[in-house]
Amino acid sequence: MGQEKVRARRETVGRHALIRGDAVNVMRRMETSSVDIVVTSPPYNIGVAYRTYKDSLAEQDYIGWMRGVCTQIARVLKPDGSFFLNIAGSSSQPWLPFELITRLRDLFVLQNHIVWIKSVSIDEKTYGHFKPVNSSRFVNHNHEHVFHLTHEGDIRVQRLAAGVPFTDKTNINRRRHAVDRRCRGNTWFIPYETVRHRREKFLHPGTFPVALPAACMTLHGYHEESVILDPFMGTGTSLVAAQELGVKGIGIDIDTRYVAVARRRLRSVLDGGIDEEQESQADEGP
Ligand SMILES: C[S@@+](CC[C@H](N)C(=O)[O-])C[C@H]1O[C@@H](n2cnc3c(N)ncnc32)[C@H](O)[C@@H]1O
Repeated sequence: MGQEKVRARRETVGRHALIRGDAVNVMRRMETSSVDIVVTSPPYNIGVAYRTYKDSLAEQDYIGWMRGVCTQIARVLKPDGSFFLNIAGSSSQPWLPFELITRLRDLFVLQNHIVWIKSVSIDEKTYGHFKPVNSSRFVNHNHEHVFHLTHEGDIRVQRLAAGVPFTDKTNINRRRHAVDRRCRGNTWFIPYETVRHRREKFLHPGTFPVALPAACMTLHGYHEESVILDPFMGTGTSLVAAQELGVKGIGIDIDTRYVAVARRRLRSVLDGGIDEEQESQADEGP
């Protein structure tokens, strides 16, 4: 994962910077306290078939590498910034997200732990999509973690902006709310778009839906001069979210082909088109 010899290449698309390069090396050259929000999904080290590297380091090597990444994130993040780390374990590495997060205790405070639910069954009905696990020992993995990390644990989050309307409208007056909005809590059901044909995918094995980074940015709060960083931007989903919310994005990825996809997606959204390339990791739906 740490590809030290990759020379960084930077380009601008709209108000956003896309950088092909190694996350740690690129961040080392960034200004201290220059980023408002980091939202990222790093390689999970669970054997995903990426193009340019093996997603299967020894667990302690992976955690050591991620500590190096997070040390740079802590440095570039403003004192009142938020870092949203999206990660998941696997049946063979169930401890990994927890091992990693405990190793970050001296760098950050874990301010919120959000569970991103990709699929849920309520009574007999299933909502959303997931990648099925074929096993007699394990159940399907229908959720991932989003760790909300901050410097001091004291960031005022925008609970209502990121919230939902009341279902029972009598609660608005009864609970003395000024608006029809409540905190949505720490379980976020954000399904993937349905993709029926392989040609609709953009050949990246692990993307998140645009709504996920958008929800993170909304929870932290933003304005047009806010800077968001995704040091593992993949196909540029966080930058598409940044564009849709009107903030500046910086995206880094080591893989030229993914940077090209990110550029294409971003240009299409900038041109007023919709993000038709919204990816799905899901193989199975309701
Ligand atoms: C889980 S994917 C991110 C997917 C992204 N959230 C999306 O929606 O497309 C992780 C990405 O990290 C990139 N990556 C792996 N090692 C890297 C490194 N050392 N520096 C920068 N990017 C790296 C991979 O190329 C991959 O695209």
